[in-house]
Amino acid sequence: MKALILAGGKGTRLRPITFSMAKQLVPVANKPVLFYGLEAVAEAGIREVGIIVGDTAAEIQHAVGDGSRWGVQATYIPQPEPLGLAHAVLTAEPFLQDEPFLMYLGDNLITSSLKPLVEAFEQRQPNALILLAEVPNPQEFGVAELQGERVVRLIEKPKHPPSNLALVGVYLFDKHIFEAARAIKPSWRGELEITDAIQYLIDKGYAVESQQITGWWKDTGSLDALLEANRLVLEDLKPSNEGVLEATQLHGRVSIGAGSVLKRCTVRGPAIIGANCYLEDCYIGSFTAIGDGVRLVECEIEYSIVLEGSSVENIETRIEGSLLGKNVSVRGGAKRPRTLRLMLGDSSLVEMP
Ligand code: DAU
Repeated sequence: MKALILAGGKGTRLRPITFSMAKQLVPVANKPVLFYGLEAVAEAGIREVGIIVGDTAAEIQHAVGDGSRWGVQATYIPQPEPLGLAHAVLTAEPFLQDEPFLMYLGDNLITSSLKPLVEAFEQRQPNALILLAEVPNPQEFGVAELQGERVVRLIEKPKHPPSNLALVGVYLFDKHIFEAARAIKPSWRGELEITDAIQYLIDKGYAVESQQITGWWKDTGSLDALLEANRLVLEDLKPSNEGVLEATQLHGRVSIGAGSVLKRCTVRGPAIIGANCYLEDCYIGSFTAIGDGVRLVECEIEYSIVLEGSSVENIETRIEGSLLGKNVSVRGGAKRPRTLRLMLGDSSLVEMP
């Protein structure tokens, strides 16, 4: 079995971060989302991995390399335009050929092992096996309608969802998916939807099986989902400290990278602080991930992600539920009159309650 990881697309919901980086490389607990997918695929015993890439091909290729870090062989497959998940499958046909494959959406994060799924597919040999998860917001996903155990209908982002069962971004297919992807027409959003291709398989009487997942799953394509994924991964954080602490208190599970210095700080875990950071007079609250080389002075940050090279200094109000890109600087000042001086990129969001 081969794997196809989708790392193209646009990432519009994570702008402005995704103006300068691939959404699949945004870190969750200081590790790019895409790496969790590669780990899951490797753990399932798959060695040949095709990676669909778009505008951010160079960046993805630079981060993943030849795949040997995960014990897999990575082949990059350029998709000229992000015309949909089924279009990505057709683009990868020369790589996949007639072999069954596991398709993994590069911005998805799933904790349960994919091995039982691959084994079930190999044993029962259906034409497709899809994964479903109960969600509170089904209108934001592909949604399945079941009759008993049988999938009867799949709809992409329905206004009136027939159930709360979302399609998870992990699918197993045999070669019939190519026939389906060729037969369907673009959706209202102009994409060849994988959901429609699977519906085609159902309509033609092919065997489409489904399984509900047991562990958690997150599509990290939006800020809220990304922060939530960060929280869930940090729940399993192993504490470690390679940094230097001065008059600093660590509560709960905290991981601090080599070369980092913390002076007069309080860190409440689970929280991760990367390498070569400098923190002075700070409070770092639970579910926060601070990237490498970050400088934080006199500020409070909680339930947030701060990417490498950024700095936050002299901010009186606690920063919460936030995502700071690379090399961002946020500076406050105690002097009056208080003014705001901003240089914000396109699509930036600043909330001052
Ligand atoms: O996350 C699960 C959902 O993923 C499913 O419930 C939906 O049925 C499915 O259509 C998909 O919905 P999204 O709208 O969230 O898909 P998105 O556009 O975010 O693309 C998913 C991944 O595939 C992402 O890593 C980008 C990549 N991609 C996307 C497109 C449209 C490509 O590589 N090529 C593409 O043409």
